[in-house]
Amino acid sequence: MTERIVLAYSGGLDTSVAIGWIGEATGAEVIAVAVDVGQGGESLETIRQRALGCGAVEAYVADASDEFADEYCMPTLKANALYQGHYPLVSAISRPVIVKHLVKAAREFGATTVAHGCTGKGNDQVRFEVGIQTLGPDLKCIAPVRDLALTRDKAIAFAEEKGLPIETTKKNPYSIDQNVWGRAVETGYLEDIWNAPTKDIYDYTATPEFPPAPDEVTISFEAGIPVAIDGVRVPPLQAIKELNRRAGAQGVGRIDVVEDRLVGIKSREIYEAPGAMALITAHKHLEDITVEREQARFKATVGQRWAELVYDGQWFSPLKRSLDAFIEDTQKYVSGDIRMTLHGGQAVVNGRRSDTSLYDFDLATYDTGDTFDQSMARGFIELWGMSAKVASGRDIRVAGQ
Ligand code: ARG
Repeated sequence: MTERIVLAYSGGLDTSVAIGWIGEATGAEVIAVAVDVGQGGESLETIRQRALGCGAVEAYVADASDEFADEYCMPTLKANALYQGHYPLVSAISRPVIVKHLVKAAREFGATTVAHGCTGKGNDQVRFEVGIQTLGPDLKCIAPVRDLALTRDKAIAFAEEKGLPIETTKKNPYSIDQNVWGRAVETGYLEDIWNAPTKDIYDYTATPEFPPAPDEVTISFEAGIPVAIDGVRVPPLQAIKELNRRAGAQGVGRIDVVEDRLVGIKSREIYEAPGAMALITAHKHLEDITVEREQARFKATVGQRWAELVYDGQWFSPLKRSLDAFIEDTQKYVSGDIRMTLHGGQAVVNGRRSDTSLYDFDLATYDTGDTFDQSMARGFIELWGMSAKVASGRDIRVAGQ
């Protein structure tokens, strides 16, 4: 039987050419797999037809946008995950859901190998292949760009020679990856890290000449998940989409960073994640009133480690699973409302309320009615400073010898 390969297919030039390229290089039949993670653009049907027109024997297309929002974006939100303090893991969390569908398609169509269009320099190759090794240990991986010398010039020449139904003239100087959680732009002019991004780079966020009036939004959460916007109940996907639109119109969620790739390269990235950044800000502020202090401090460390693991392609790893269990436990009381103003590129929280809040007005108030016994503070401070005081006494004694 002819060998079969499932290919992670975006509908773009490189993966369209990869269908025929892989076929010629390996003699295998190629099945194109396209997964909708809320990236917008062409319909899955258009992408399916193009895949078949480029020589795929089958096309597997899946609308995974709700699955992505529920099972990938929501855990990222619960973790307040920001890699290196900035990046909400847009591309990093989409790879595992694509991997799930690749493995599913491989089983359905009897494929032995999985192919993806990543280069050999980035994180995404690692995320795809580590994910595949974990979910389908018997499957092999190939990357035509990296392993079969499929360069951009060769891709254009191949598409023209074979008359593939794909545009070869459209020149985009940037490498872009996008989904409902955000958008990543790299390469080209941005590789000079002194160059400021030009307006045309942005798509999810507006650069308004005349900024619109501030937009006040109330986001309601239940156990760490956004469940309503301005009182209207919405599933996670809709919550993200609505905030992408409203926070995006105010220019919220632009990120310009040089980050550390897993392969050891520092790279310049421009991200736009208006919905994700507004949600993470709101969620963090709700945690501030509902999560106990020690749990909250420890959770910040866990969230950072979680972000590193996910960035590094360890979505399906045991440690990530264990950290998920910890994070989930912290979310039990993260319920309530956050009011925030979206304006001038900022999402600023200005009100919060929760039935499970730990904020005690009577303890906090400086007005009469204060229930806090201030006399307790003296003894507490005495003991709290004791250890450092004893050590400092020793330092003085030794210095004097
Ligand atoms: N550097 C980011 C990451 O590793 C974004 C990668 C986006 N991929 C792309 N082809 N532009 O998560």
